[in-house]
Amino acid sequence: MTNWLVTGATGLLGGNAALQLSSAHEVTGVSRSAPGKSPVPFIATDISQRAGRSGLIERSGARAVFHSAAISSIEQCADEPELAWKLNVEASADLAAQAHIVGAAFVYISTDAVFDGARGSYTEQDRPSPATEYGRTKLAGERAVLNANPNALVARVNFYGWSPNGHRSLAEFFYTRLARGEMTNGFTDTIVSTLYVGRLVAAIERLVDVRAKGIVNVVSSESTSKFDFGRRLATVFRFDPELVQPALSTDHLAVKRGSRLDLDTTLVTKLLGYAPAGQQEGIAELATDFTAGRTQAVSAFTPEKEA
Ligand SMILES: NC(=O)c1ccc[n+]([C@@H]2O[C@H](COP(=O)([O-])OP(=O)(O)OC[C@H]3O[C@@H](n4cnc5c(N)ncnc54)[C@H](OP(=O)(O)O)[C@@H]3O)[C@@H](O)[C@H]2O)c1
Repeated sequence: MTNWLVTGATGLLGGNAALQLSSAHEVTGVSRSAPGKSPVPFIATDISQRAGRSGLIERSGARAVFHSAAISSIEQCADEPELAWKLNVEASADLAAQAHIVGAAFVYISTDAVFDGARGSYTEQDRPSPATEYGRTKLAGERAVLNANPNALVARVNFYGWSPNGHRSLAEFFYTRLARGEMTNGFTDTIVSTLYVGRLVAAIERLVDVRAKGIVNVVSSESTSKFDFGRRLATVFRFDPELVQPALSTDHLAVKRGSRLDLDTTLVTKLLGYAPAGQQEGIAELATDFTAGRTQAVSAFTPEKEA
């Protein structure tokens, strides 16, 4: 049993991490506003402010930190770059340094958006080339974290799942519209190796167990277009797959992003001793978890102000 501190625990990834890790570990969540009836203890603090994060890791008694708090919206980073740099870079580096001092494991959640998406199949050795302000802050965050804490794990991820507020992920985007019988666009020109969040959290837990450090791609071993993902999800949940229609992201998105953002999984497969789930396996688990009540369990992490 480890004592985990999960930052961003009201978000899509952090909420799932706090929920899942709390089945075997002590977990404390961090966000600016805590859920009303959280299943785990929470520290409500603004970590973009130095005073809000000062001594946070030592005070929490954490032996491992799952740092997922970030400005994660490409649009918000473009609109509020100063805040994005404060949180995604400065706060991340400071927390990584705090973890280093107390000897706690530290996981910085990064992104496939450190690449421009011109080529795809990126390995950990490929040179990053972010095309958005979001990607630039996350790349600078990676470098600042590793400078402050050479033992840190930098996990480059892309994921989907059930989120506390019910509308954060690609899966929820399709599920909500398909359940209403609505036609919806699926981008054929965006390729990702998105991984079910339950598998992502389990992989990170194991990587910390085996003391993995440095940059590791933690994504699905199979890439997919967002269009194929939507069609597959429709089939698994027994909706009409024809409701998902092919579309081009370039016709619809205000801030342009990369097209081929899939990542190579050779290293993570070696470190884990197994390959992260493929697309069919991941969506099947999304459905199994839905039936088992994961949406309600995760919704307990919705901040009180939004509940
Ligand atoms: N979503 C994706 O598909 C995706 C893909 C690749 C990588 N990532 C990375 O994965 C991580 C998690 O993403 P996500 O989509 O789960 O994020 P999210 O749903 O947007 O959640 C962000 C979390 O950060 C917290 N937060 C924001 N500002 C804060 C502050 N100043 N102080 C304390 N907490 C703060 C938020 O809580 P409050 O607002 O209540 O404070 C929330 O809990 C991020 O590092 C992101 O860059 C995401």
